[in-house]
Amino acid sequence: QLHGGITIVVLGASGDLAKKKTFPALFGLYRNGFFPPKTHIVGYARTKMTHEEYHKRVSQYIKVPEVFRKQLNEFLAISTYVDGQYDEDASYQNLNKHIEKIENDSHIADGHKNRLFYMALPPSVFIPVAKGLKKNVYSRGSINRVVVEKPFGMDLDSSRRLDKELGALFSEDEIYRIDHYLGKEMVKNIMTLRFANVFFGSIWNAQHIENVQITFKEPFGTEGRGGYFDEFGIIRDVIQNHLFQVLSLLAMERPISMSAEAIRDEKVKVLRCIPPIVVSDALVGQYGKSVDGTKPGYLEDDTLKNKQSVTPTFATLVAWINNERWQGVPFILKAGKALNESKVDVRIQFKNVAGQLFKEVPRNELVIRVQPNEAVYMKFNNKLPGLSFQTTISELDLSYHRRYSDLRIPDAYEALILDVLRGDHSNFVRNDELDVAWTIFTPLLHELETSKVKPIEYAYGSRGPKQLDEFVKRYGFRRHQEQYIWPIQNVD
Ligand code: BG6
Repeated sequence: QLHGGITIVVLGASGDLAKKKTFPALFGLYRNGFFPPKTHIVGYARTKMTHEEYHKRVSQYIKVPEVFRKQLNEFLAISTYVDGQYDEDASYQNLNKHIEKIENDSHIADGHKNRLFYMALPPSVFIPVAKGLKKNVYSRGSINRVVVEKPFGMDLDSSRRLDKELGALFSEDEIYRIDHYLGKEMVKNIMTLRFANVFFGSIWNAQHIENVQITFKEPFGTEGRGGYFDEFGIIRDVIQNHLFQVLSLLAMERPISMSAEAIRDEKVKVLRCIPPIVVSDALVGQYGKSVDGTKPGYLEDDTLKNKQSVTPTFATLVAWINNERWQGVPFILKAGKALNESKVDVRIQFKNVAGQLFKEVPRNELVIRVQPNEAVYMKFNNKLPGLSFQTTISELDLSYHRRYSDLRIPDAYEALILDVLRGDHSNFVRNDELDVAWTIFTPLLHELETSKVKPIEYAYGSRGPKQLDEFVKRYGFRRHQEQYIWPIQNVD
């Protein structure tokens, strides 16, 4: 727990992440009264600007309606800016002086001069910045916390190198590796669904579950981000981290307590049961032009340097978990950019009903809709009301906008920064967790890259490569789309 004061230093304060996520989340926490007393925010970046210019920028990033103007002004009053280089002691000493002045002006006693370093930075400067901070800005005798965000390396080796360097500077207890999917309401709900409900708990295994599908779909391409994306591809960008975190929460055993280490121990344990994903269990794609020609293909992105790139913008991979609970159940991880819709969900498809009483009834499915329109719904077979004995597929539906209409769902970053302030690591990635995730993905990534496997082209705005349905069918997934469409999905 934090006592005294805290200074939140946002490094990379003029970058994209800070603009889109960090500042709006910090303001959200401020507005809702979650900042500890004597909290200050210091932006740090290379751009030279006055405080007025900085405040103007921050207000533009936060974009709040006029009614919050007063709170925004209060927030700006605790926000200051320092410019400096990322690899120069003198710059960090200057930053340190600035923070010390704030601490002294607010009468914060020694031992309570806590500092949170939020690195909204590209990975190329993680280490130089971490070194500069440790040497010049670390608050001895008080609490220091460092928040970093992916990419944590490119593969197992580079991730281990990065981890070693970071680990030499800050303790694991001081490091918070963000995977923002862990801050999403529905992802946080997985443990509650599984471990607070006896009926889910007892059917959560290979005896009842046929397959599990985790899907991430975005309706836009890499527009403007091609430079970054091309180095990484969809597997590193979304699957190895976000979808894999979801998988570990779905598949892990019950932790012995709700403590961060108990949860993370179970996640690591289940991930260690997964052998590296093989190329024959992968389908990769890259988007081309839209059918009507109005949207450009991936290779036409101006920010893309390599016009022959074979980087996948779509991938479906299958992971297998070799333990008593999951042996033989495929976990299908599907992610793509420039698809037909925006959607993230988990679909647990149950086994066929035994016996011949009802012919070919669709399988039960439990769907956890992460976004948009958070919901949990169960597809089940019901008698068609009236004189017939036909079955019809229906749903038990918990749609959040109806059930919890007066509750606000916080942004993932807001939830996670609050966890950092509280010192709770449960929703952050531990170093051994990262290591095992890379162990599972690295052979596949290397093979795709060294043999330059050409991804299958799919049209911008389509459902993905044409081979997709055939591919998931091979793993036993049955699609019932013709008979059933979740009625809530089009509600805003
Ligand atoms: C990021 C990826 O981590 O997650 C992006 O780098 C992706 O490519 C984003 O668009 C998706 O996050 P969200 O919260 O919009 O689902």
